[in-house]
Amino acid sequence: MNLKELWNERRQLVENHLTEELNMESALDKTLCESMQYSLMAGGKRLRPILLMAAADAVGAKGTDYLESACAIEMIHTYSLIHDDLPAMDDDDYRRGKLTNHKVYGAGMATLAGDALLTLAFEVMLRQSGVSTENILQVVREMSVAAGPDGMVGGQALDLESEDKQIPMETLRRMHMGKTGALFRAAIRSGAILGGASAVELSALTEYADNFGLAFQITDDILDVTGDESVIGKPGRQR
Ligand code: IPE
Ligand code: IPE
Ligand code: MG
Repeated sequence: MNLKELWNERRQLVENHLTEELNMESALDKTLCESMQYSLMAGGKRLRPILLMAAADAVGAKGTDYLESACAIEMIHTYSLIHDDLPAMDDDDYRRGKLTNHKVYGAGMATLAGDALLTLAFEVMLRQSGVSTENILQVVREMSVAAGPDGMVGGQALDLESEDKQIPMETLRRMHMGKTGALFRAAIRSGAILGGASAVELSALTEYADNFGLAFQITDDILDVTGDESVIGKPGRQR
């Protein structure tokens, strides 16, 4: 199986599992559930779940055993995108080739959809089967640190404060490592932990993850200026 086939196969597993996790029937508020589904099922690349599974494979485990954790990180990522696009943040109209969540459901419901995806992620993660409690707790810790003030949210705050300013290279690096790198780091480290990585394997995969995250955000920023909207699914910046 080549990389593209593997990617498509795993992406389909992620899509199916995410669909199962958002059960409309038992939802307290149907609009909230609809708005969560709208962004979650809008067809992202599913890079973080696929990397989580690949990291488990890399240490000799079976990545597809960790679908709950893989889907959990996609929920955290999707929440970060919904909030990133809000009028008070980047104020963007399109994401994943569709209108942004707040354009369809309003800023209030979009804020709540993000909150709900973040919290649901931790519930789903804790349902990960076939893993020791110790490993699950370690994964919960990885994901909460990555999502919080020392990770994605901290990086987003730096981004907010740096808008239209010249900032030192080191601040830019810390911003990228926070807002984007942290979730890649958590995805790869969590997959490795779930797969039973040794300390040496975990440290090597962490270094890979950090470099990947940095390169990813730099590429995303370049595509923001040079990319084709119909391919990247979001409008570029007018400069
Ligand atoms: C976009 O991430 C936001 C950044 C962190 C740069 P992706 O490019 O992985 O977005 P989706 O999940 O495929 O929509
Ligand atoms: C998004 O960063 C990063 C997070 C959502 C944490 P950007 O604002 O640079 O990415 P796009 O261009 O909206 O995807
Ligand atoms: Mg943005």
